[in-house]
Amino acid sequence: MIIAVDGPAASGKGTIAKALAKHFGLPHMDTGLLYRAVALALWRYGGDPASEFEALRACHALVVEPEDEELRSEPVSRIASSISAYPSVREALRVRQQEFAGQPGGAVLDGRDIGTVIAPQAEVKLFVTASPEVRAERRTKELAAREMPAHFEEVLADIRARDERDSNRSSAPLRQADDSILIDTTNLDAQAACADAIRRVEALLAAR
Ligand code: CDP
Repeated sequence: MIIAVDGPAASGKGTIAKALAKHFGLPHMDTGLLYRAVALALWRYGGDPASEFEALRACHALVVEPEDEELRSEPVSRIASSISAYPSVREALRVRQQEFAGQPGGAVLDGRDIGTVIAPQAEVKLFVTASPEVRAERRTKELAAREMPAHFEEVLADIRARDERDSNRSSAPLRQADDSILIDTTNLDAQAACADAIRRVEALLAAR
């Protein structure tokens, strides 16, 4: 079974995807990390994010080290958001994601275009969202916990800018798949959001 979890920045999709993976005993891929790893490579080795060619070059021989704190830093987040609009970058990362999705037994993938482009055949699709203010609040706390302090207002502006870019890019824009379950986590903490997601996926599977 493939479970696709999509949604905007800091909506809680990663937390929900992890909980679903654990509940159903499936492997999980945070596809945002691929875009972040490309961004980090450019950031570290002085590549120009404004050059699609350089961004594409960084996709080849891409190493993803999920524990690297820099992957989640604000500069890297910003670069990830801009280079993810390049069609050639999306294409280069597509195969990796589809191979992961296609493994025997299935997988859970979270991102922006899993249910629409990477795995439109997914048996279960979730679209996770929350108000920009709540998402900015979560991201601000997350950054503070990682000792990367940030100002709420700046984080909010950044989230709005990223929403705009993610939704309006021509290549695989962020949009809710027609056949997806919508989960609004604005008024739910992580535990409640995960419980809600598991309950609704179980209900969907039982109805089939
Ligand atoms: O949740 P957050 O947006 O902070 O980060 P993420 O999910 O790790 O994604 C990082 C960036 O990669 C985002 O700004 C997206 O624009 C992009 N992305 C994408 O275009 N497609 C995906 N499947 C996953 C991420």
